[in-house]
Amino acid sequence: MGLLDGKNALIWGVANRRSIGWGAARALAREGARIALTYESERVEKMVRDCADQVPGTTMIQADVTDDAQIQAVYDELKAAWDRVDVVVHSIAYAPREDMEGRFADTSRNGFLTALGISAYSLVPITRYAVPLMPDGGSVMTMTYIASDRVFPNYNVMGVAKAALEASVRYLAADLGPQGVRVNAISPGPISTLAARGVPGFTGFAKASTERSPLRQSTDIDQVGDTAVFLASNLSRGVTGDVLFVDQGYHVLGF
Ligand SMILES: NC(=O)c1ccc[n+]([C@@H]2O[C@H](COP(=O)([O-])OP(=O)(O)OC[C@H]3O[C@@H](n4cnc5c(N)ncnc54)[C@H](O)[C@@H]3O)[C@@H](O)[C@H]2O)c1
Repeated sequence: MGLLDGKNALIWGVANRRSIGWGAARALAREGARIALTYESERVEKMVRDCADQVPGTTMIQADVTDDAQIQAVYDELKAAWDRVDVVVHSIAYAPREDMEGRFADTSRNGFLTALGISAYSLVPITRYAVPLMPDGGSVMTMTYIASDRVFPNYNVMGVAKAALEASVRYLAADLGPQGVRVNAISPGPISTLAARGVPGFTGFAKASTERSPLRQSTDIDQVGDTAVFLASNLSRGVTGDVLFVDQGYHVLGF
């Protein structure tokens, strides 16, 4: 008996086996959920298929979240195949490389709009189009980072995008709570993924975080996955609009 037997879960943003989205997907599958993964482009299709092959029955759908029609098409496909979606995991972020080095003050207009569009706004249509498939309520979650609240070197516009993402979680939670749809964020500590390795200096602050955090260990995708199970399941039925840290306690430090 799994905690998520009979549930349907859609995970947005798997690129490869290191992806946090994949950690969430395999934990949800372990607890009995049926899984669909979205991936951005053919460029990552083979690596995503390697993941999907580990969980028999997994559906893969290509979608670029800059295009509303592609987002809607994912739900149309799932409506036909599944009828219902119970859990949605948003695990997507992007900022142009040149805006993740140097000074935040030099962020370009285009870089700002791109980063916020892909990393924050995409949660809004991804949630809005999910709701008609959640007649009995559901759970939506996204991945944020503590740079929403504090300044980290080179995180720059992505920190601002995470602040917008967390605020969006609160507004979505308030709108959709009456329909039984809960919306939360998970804030993991640094994990070496494709996206993280795009942040100059990532290895340095990942190491510092492991050395200084109360639990003195690094964060991995399975820890995040187990928290995703909690948020997806009835165990978290009283939790919405919140940010749950899975960062070995790093966020409580004041030094
Ligand atoms: N790795 C970390 O240290 C860390 C820490 C906290 C939060 N996060 C967040 O976790 C989430 C997942 O990142 P990750 O670290 O697993 O890296 P990742 O590179 O594996 O995942 C990022 C995903 O975003 C997708 N994506 C980017 N632009 C897209 C677009 N236009 N359309 C569709 N998909 C698009 C990529 O294809 C990829 O699958 C991100 O929101 C990231 O900010 C990561």
